[in-house]
Amino acid sequence: CGIVGIVGDAPVAGRLVDALKRLEYRGYDSAGVATLESGTIARRRAEGKLGNLATKLGMLPLDGHIGIGHTRWATHGAPTETNAHPHATDRVAVVHNGIIENFRELLTDLAKDGYRPTSQTDTESVALWATRELDRGANPELAVARTLKVLKGAFALAFMFKGENGLLIAARHGAPLAVGYGATEMYLGSDAMALAPFTSRLTYLEDGDWALITPNGVTIRDGQDALVQREQMVSQASALLVDKGNHRHFMAKEIYEQPETISHTLSHYVDMGSEQVSLREVLPFDFAELTRLTMSACGTAYYAGAVAKYWFERYARLPVDIDVASEFRYREPPMEKGGLSLFISQSGETADTLAALRYCAGQGQHVASLVNTLESTIARESGVVFPILCGPEIGVASTKALTAQLTALASLSIAAGRARGVITAELEAELVRALTALPSAVSQALSAETQIMDISKRLSKAKDVLYLGRGPMFPVAMEGALKLKEISYIHAEGYAAGELKHGPIALVDEAMPVIVVAPSNELVDKTLSNMQEVAARGGKIILITDAEGAKTVGHGVADIIEIPHVHPFVAPILATIPVQLLAYHTAVFMGTDVDQPRNLAKSVTVE
Ligand code: G6P
Repeated sequence: CGIVGIVGDAPVAGRLVDALKRLEYRGYDSAGVATLESGTIARRRAEGKLGNLATKLGMLPLDGHIGIGHTRWATHGAPTETNAHPHATDRVAVVHNGIIENFRELLTDLAKDGYRPTSQTDTESVALWATRELDRGANPELAVARTLKVLKGAFALAFMFKGENGLLIAARHGAPLAVGYGATEMYLGSDAMALAPFTSRLTYLEDGDWALITPNGVTIRDGQDALVQREQMVSQASALLVDKGNHRHFMAKEIYEQPETISHTLSHYVDMGSEQVSLREVLPFDFAELTRLTMSACGTAYYAGAVAKYWFERYARLPVDIDVASEFRYREPPMEKGGLSLFISQSGETADTLAALRYCAGQGQHVASLVNTLESTIARESGVVFPILCGPEIGVASTKALTAQLTALASLSIAAGRARGVITAELEAELVRALTALPSAVSQALSAETQIMDISKRLSKAKDVLYLGRGPMFPVAMEGALKLKEISYIHAEGYAAGELKHGPIALVDEAMPVIVVAPSNELVDKTLSNMQEVAARGGKIILITDAEGAKTVGHGVADIIEIPHVHPFVAPILATIPVQLLAYHTAVFMGTDVDQPRNLAKSVTVE
């Protein structure tokens, strides 16, 4: 969810909606704003996208000079108008990001005094608790202080009070929140992006902090209620909202940007003149001395790490442990002190990844992160930050961030291999040349679009799809299945090709498209025999390979999507291109909301 607030000297409702627009990547199933109209709390809320809220405000405008707003990704309670934030009583309005884990207990306690919720959300327990404190005579500051003491969970909150035209109170406990400074106004937002149109001067609250925001500035207290000073910084976030250019969807634009974004990433990591990887970051560890690399991430970023495992193990002989962050954080893995942990996150705000990071920091690990958003919480809490530099990614389904992550990870694996004496100067030059050949190979792979559209038309009729790959193509297959699920809502699974015969082959029949990702490498023949096992059972095979691979295919392949031949080292990066296009065009044929698919959010800031 996304939070904004303005303590202003002019009407705020329209500006709150503009700021929410920039937070839509955090959720878009409902939205709302609350302002004070002559001291009284007034709300407008709407189910669905922000446009619905804007329309409502057009019909029923609000004029207040102070307000809070919210865009929601539902955790407790369906995405209806009643469950949309702000939640309010006549004395206080609250917006909330995260989860209040003990809300049932709080509501039971409140019910004894006759305070009853009107929604199914966990958030309303916060509004009601603060109201009871106010009713018992506390002022707003004390009411919030007492409320914060009883809440369990990870959250960010903003409060606005009846009759208090110059006061918002914000609290950060596990979910990000920043305070922005204007000339005559003060702001509050989940990130710098939301605040960028208003101000670039801001302070990130730290965990446990809560803040009183008034027209004159901000007073911050820490988790023990002691007054603290937090650094003011100048954000680099741009006030410009990126547009779709001449593409129909952001996702299409982002897919087509990849030759450029990969070049951008490469120019940071690779010196094309000397054909070497040259890291600009100062490393607080020595790759040569590591005994293990631990990686953790969610969603597509996890698959980037899963591909990189093959690189680090093969080219740097560095053992890799990789897990999805939601599992890793509770696994309590033993870790040798001084090891390296690497967290991959486009947004740098994913709650599970952040929790995994904190676990590793607590275990005496060197903490490194690979992020797109350099001001994010994950970046700020890392010892060393590797940027991926692909520009803002708006489409919820990640595309250009994945190829940028992979490009950076490939470079890092070369650096590690060199430091560990595994990669010779000749091999390094060979691998760097392979990387620099990628942008043009990617643009060539993009030219298969017409053929892919034709295949996608047929795919859009399927109920289930199987993706197969071996070695580093296995995570690419899983990513292919994830992309298809995310945006076309077709059930898909990614499997290690060799594992097919241990179960999924039972699903294969004439109605089942099986997409095989198998560019030529030393394993291609093995994957192609797995493919023949599918063909023998009537499965409709779509093969993604290069000309070499295509030559060795036997019968029974319905379609071959040919990608340029590249060095096997970078082939997994290239192979993601047709996989993205297949998902995109299938979704377009299905008529789904490609950039904002149902139930998903771009950045998941709850556990
Ligand atoms: C969500 C998005 C995915 C993304 C994942 C991790 O699930 O829909 O596209 O891969 O979060 O996000 P992160 O920002 O940590 O890379």
